[in-house]
Amino acid sequence: MDSLQIPIPVYAIIAILTFFFLAWLRRKPLPPGPMGWPIIGNMLMMDQLTHRGLASLAKKYGGILHLKMGFSHTIAVSSPEIARQILQEKDNIFANRPATIAITYLTYNRVDMAFANYGPFWRQMRKLCVMKLFSRKRAESWDSVRDEVDTMVKATSINSGLPVNLGELVFGLTHDIIYRAAFGSISHEGKEEFIRILQEYTKLFGAFNLADFIPMLGFIDPAGLNTRLPAARAALDGFIDKIIDEHLSKEKKIGDENVDNDMVDEMLAFYSEDGRVNEGGDLQNAINLTRDNIKAIIMDVMFGGTETVASAIEWTMTELMHTPEALKRVQQELTNVVGLDRRVEESDFEKLTYFKCVIKETLRMHPPIPVLLHQSSEATEVSGYHIPKGTPDEGFAATLEEIPNSGTGIVH
Ligand code: HEM
Repeated sequence: MDSLQIPIPVYAIIAILTFFFLAWLRRKPLPPGPMGWPIIGNMLMMDQLTHRGLASLAKKYGGILHLKMGFSHTIAVSSPEIARQILQEKDNIFANRPATIAITYLTYNRVDMAFANYGPFWRQMRKLCVMKLFSRKRAESWDSVRDEVDTMVKATSINSGLPVNLGELVFGLTHDIIYRAAFGSISHEGKEEFIRILQEYTKLFGAFNLADFIPMLGFIDPAGLNTRLPAARAALDGFIDKIIDEHLSKEKKIGDENVDNDMVDEMLAFYSEDGRVNEGGDLQNAINLTRDNIKAIIMDVMFGGTETVASAIEWTMTELMHTPEALKRVQQELTNVVGLDRRVEESDFEKLTYFKCVIKETLRMHPPIPVLLHQSSEATEVSGYHIPKGTPDEGFAATLEEIPNSGTGIVH
């Protein structure tokens, strides 16, 4: 009688499948969270993904909870201890940020700093930002930026005694400062057009896109993203390419101590149409920036530096108005340290101890970015739970006082 012959490849397949099955059985569970529906998961709870919504979910499910948004796993962390594990101990795994289809497209496929994945390119970009764009020397040399503050203070003091819309005023100020820091004064006349482009970018960044959660349903596009995204990026290309060309044609010596270089000038010192990045070496030889890099970094700075600072100023003023004793103390400290006949300089900050505490406390109570978004670059385990690869992780930084055992300050 013929014995039943099982071919060797079948044995191999069975062994591999058994191995994966056992690994899956041994795998830790996902963090707790609300039950979801088939396919869409917890997408009906999308409106609860604010820091306050997540804080109330945390009360029910704990300091680490799991939501399934379509095909994408999302973990929300509110416990400071777990946040520390993610952002410090496992920083190498959670260093990336999740990017939606809109963000990926509008950052020229993530060639900026905020959305570039952790690696040699991000490290060199960070070096460029620290050494060139945001260095102390650069901050001190931006006289043109201080002009914007003077203009705002003068315009406000003329209307002394009349009501003022503080939110509009400080948003206009921070926007003017960043605009001028990025482009210099050459193209100031195009500011209105740029604001329109920024507004469309803001809407596109926040627009709901079903394809981010269920990729095969990308053809359902009620917000018209498939046409709006290329139109918005083309508008930005037209605007910034013109500025880059103007900068390239003006004869300015980069690095000249006496010249008030803007960010485009600084980045053009690294410009080459074929971008390149090497590890190590001095910055000039390590990185070449393309036009797309320059545009994407400028948009990082525009989005990172405008609303955040405006929100911090507006909340600080609001809290001071609600706390007259604190307001009086800040005013007294400013009078003692700075006096009444000059403006505050960076060098004064060291002595403005109470004022600095007020700002820190305001940032604690009203963090301008209350939810920090990170993404796992590989499957891992946190606090005894399984975190799949590619999971957006949301650590949130506001309403900490509502969460038991939370410390103060921003959860990282
Ligand atoms: C009160 C003011 C500000 C606050 C509260 C703030 C807050 C933050 C936070 C929470 C992050 C993300 C950190 C993380 O994911 O772990 C971030 C990143 C970033 N911010 Fe700010 N920011 C402020 C001002 C600015 C300004 C003035 C600029 C630029 C001029 C800026 C540019 C950026 C950039 C480029 C990133 C991404 C950095 C990276 O990927 O490494 N921010 N900021």
